[in-house]
Amino acid sequence: MTDLLLGQTLAFTADPFTDGPAAAQHESHGAVLIEGGHIKAIGPADTLRAAHPQARVTDYGRALISAGFIDAHVHFPQTAIIASWGKRLIDWLNTYTFPEEMRFADPAYASEIAARYFELTLANGTTTACSYATIHPASVDAYFTQAQRRGMRALTGKTCMDRNAPDGLRDTAQSAYDDSKRLLEKWHGVDRLSYVITPRFSPTSTPEQLSALGALWAEHPECLMQTHLSEQLDEIAWVKSLYPTARDYLDTYEQHGLLGKGGLYGHAIHLEPREIDRLHEVDASLIHCPTSNTFIGSGLFDLARLKAAGHRIGLATDTGGGSSFSMLRTMAAAYEVSQLRGTALHPAQLWWLATQGAARALHLDAKIGNLAVGMEADLTILDLASTPAIAQASARAETLWEAIFPTIMMGDDRATRAVWVGGKPARA
Ligand code: GUN
Ligand code: ZN
Repeated sequence: MTDLLLGQTLAFTADPFTDGPAAAQHESHGAVLIEGGHIKAIGPADTLRAAHPQARVTDYGRALISAGFIDAHVHFPQTAIIASWGKRLIDWLNTYTFPEEMRFADPAYASEIAARYFELTLANGTTTACSYATIHPASVDAYFTQAQRRGMRALTGKTCMDRNAPDGLRDTAQSAYDDSKRLLEKWHGVDRLSYVITPRFSPTSTPEQLSALGALWAEHPECLMQTHLSEQLDEIAWVKSLYPTARDYLDTYEQHGLLGKGGLYGHAIHLEPREIDRLHEVDASLIHCPTSNTFIGSGLFDLARLKAAGHRIGLATDTGGGSSFSMLRTMAAAYEVSQLRGTALHPAQLWWLATQGAARALHLDAKIGNLAVGMEADLTILDLASTPAIAQASARAETLWEAIFPTIMMGDDRATRAVWVGGKPARA
C-alpha cells in the first residue's frame, strides 16, 4: 500500500542553530508519500498526486505534517507520579519516585504502566522515547513489548542502582552487569528497539557498579549509555563526598569507562569548564529537560551557549520529574528557560530540538526525526488552531513561524490531529 498524506509540510535541510530559520523547508500545500514504512517522496501536493495516482490519499487540509516528536530522556515508570508536589531532587526521589519504582517488581503493573505511557506519548505526538526502566528486568520487557506491539522505535535499559536506594530497589555490580547484558542480547536491534546501558547516576552506584557497566559498554559500543549529570547543587556536593578523588561529577563516569560519544547525559546544568570541554571533545549528548528543571527547581540549562559551542543537544520531558508528556509543552519550557538566560530561541530551533536534534542526540538521525526520502515514516500531524486561544493568535499570523509559535507555547494533546508510526496510522 502506498499512502499520500496532504497538508502543510515541515522538514529540515540543515540545523537552524547554524543556518537560521532557512534550515526549515515548508510547503503550504505539501505531500508526503509513504511506502513500506518509509518516506518515498516529499514535495508539492499537486506534483506528487499527479505522479502517484494509485496512492491512497489522506487529506489533512491546513494541518502541519511534521516528523514525529522524539523524547530523548524519560522515566516511563514515573508516569503515575507525574506532578507530585513540593520536593527537590533527592527528597523527590526518596518520597515519590523510589516507592513507585518498587511497584515494578510486579510484571503486571509494569505492563499496565508501559501501555498507559505509550498511549499518553502517542496522544501527544511523540513517536520515539528513550526511557529509563526500573531495576527490574521485567520493566524493560514491559516497555519493549508495548513499543513492539505498536511498531514504535523505542529505547530503554534496566536502571542500575546498588547503593543509596531502599531495600528492594538495589541490585549489585555483578547482577547489574549480568541482567543488563542478558536484556541487551535479548532486545537490542530487535524490530525497532534499542537497548541503552543505564546507570541511574553516580550517587546510586558504587564505583564497582560503574566499572562493571563501563566494561559492558566497552563490550557493546553499538549501544548508547544514559545517565544523569549535574542536575542540582546538593546532588553535586553529594557526588563530591561519595567520590573524593574525582576531579568533578563527569569524572566519576569518565574514571569508570562511562564517558563517550554514545553517552547521553541528562540535565547537565551546573557544569565546570573542564566538564564542558570534555563533553564536547568526546561529542557526548547533553539532554535538556526544561519542564523538569523548573518543576524540581534544578536550574537554567545554558542551551544557547552550549549549542553555539558545538555540543550535541537533545530535548526531553524527563517525565515524571518533568511535568508534562508533551513535547510542545517541553519546547515552550525550553523557550522560557532560554529567555531567562537572555536568548529567545526561534520556533525553528525549538521544533528542530524536538525532532532532528533529539534524533541526533540519540544517534538515530539517519532513521527518524525528519521528513526526508528514506526516513522511517513516523509522523505527527498537528492542528495549528486546536483551541480558541491558539486559533485567535494563529489567525493573525503572517508567516509560518507566527502560525506555529502559539501551538508551541499553548498547545497540548488537543493539537495532535493524527500520528503515523512506521508508515501506518497509529491515531487516525
Ligand atoms: N537523578 C537520578 N534519578 C533521577 C530521576 O529519576 N529523575 C530526575 N529528574 N533526576 C534523577
Ligand atoms: Zn531523568
